[in-house]
Amino acid sequence: MFMEPTSTSNKRVFSGMQPSGVATIGNYLGAIRNWVAQQDQYDNLFCIVDLHAMGTLTDPDEMRENIHSLAATMFAAGLNPEIAPLFVQSDVPQHAELAWTLSNVTQFGELSRMTQFKDKSAGKDDAAINSAIFFYPVLMAADIILYDTDLVPVGDDQRQHVELTRDIATRFNTRYGDTFVIPKADIKEVGARIMSLQEPTKKMSKSDANANAYIALSDDPDVIKRKIKRAVTDSDARVSASPEKPAVTNLMQIYGILADLSLDQVEEHFSGKGYGPFKAELTDLLIESLAPIQAKLAEYKANPEEVARLLEIGRTRAAILAEAKMADVNRKTGVGGKLHR
Ligand code: AMP
Ligand code: TRP
Repeated sequence: MFMEPTSTSNKRVFSGMQPSGVATIGNYLGAIRNWVAQQDQYDNLFCIVDLHAMGTLTDPDEMRENIHSLAATMFAAGLNPEIAPLFVQSDVPQHAELAWTLSNVTQFGELSRMTQFKDKSAGKDDAAINSAIFFYPVLMAADIILYDTDLVPVGDDQRQHVELTRDIATRFNTRYGDTFVIPKADIKEVGARIMSLQEPTKKMSKSDANANAYIALSDDPDVIKRKIKRAVTDSDARVSASPEKPAVTNLMQIYGILADLSLDQVEEHFSGKGYGPFKAELTDLLIESLAPIQAKLAEYKANPEEVARLLEIGRTRAAILAEAKMADVNRKTGVGGKLHR
């Protein structure tokens, strides 16, 4: 039996994550950690967006494995399925259905201007660009507004997609009458942009070809040690944050979030010490912070039935909301053969 969430606010929070490979500390510090920290304040829904990952994940076994592994990671990181149900996007068919409806109030030009689309298609032949990466933001808009979402906690890279979602929802409401809540992005000041450890002007990404660029939540202590050792630094030897020192600033940011210190406090803590001691302490802090998550991850991985059971609880909760909303949308647009109005 599913218990109604006991949130202190009736604000709905929705966010999603692609099951494309391992989750990094960028995903954790920019998204999952915030979802967990706020979960008892809101009426939440979290989603593993498998349909969004189909373009990059073409092996069905890998797709299945990644979905379950990401679910296990999120539960291990502290997501409590009783107050923050987690489900898989394709288990609720209304996401894809609503995306089609919304494509009718989304302009070609708007999708062409999305920076993520421009980045991913840059320099490629038309024949090498899947239309799914163009259409992607419409499906994301459907994910969000299907649930009357108020707040969308995401990293900075998703800001533009949430803005577009607002425009799409507003346009639908104008054409067919008040139907969707207009959502807002919830982007934190710190952690919203964790950068690559190798090229600190690029965001840390799990799809980076160079595994030294990211730390995965599942990396063991030796791997963390090696990756921090190899992380690039800036030319002088001071542990201080500034736009001219993106590499060290990024490492200081990671340290600060995990130690619950501001950048100024991190700077003070390491004043007079060089990069050596800084990297050593950062390594220890990362190992120590990830250890409890990794221990729980191993437990969930050993019990895939439990992960499937928790995802089914999430699906049940999401399906009730999605079916009602989609029925309302179809009634408003007039599609379907029933004599409803
Ligand atoms: P994705 O893995 O692209 O599905 O992203 C899932 C969530 O993690 C989104 O909210 C992203 O904005 C966030 N995220 C991904 N990479 C980073 C990063 N390097 N820094 C901060 N947040 C990130
Ligand atoms: N596009 C998001 C990303 O790559 C994932 C996503 C899909 C999402 N649907 C969503 C995030 C809805 C928030 C809300 O990170």
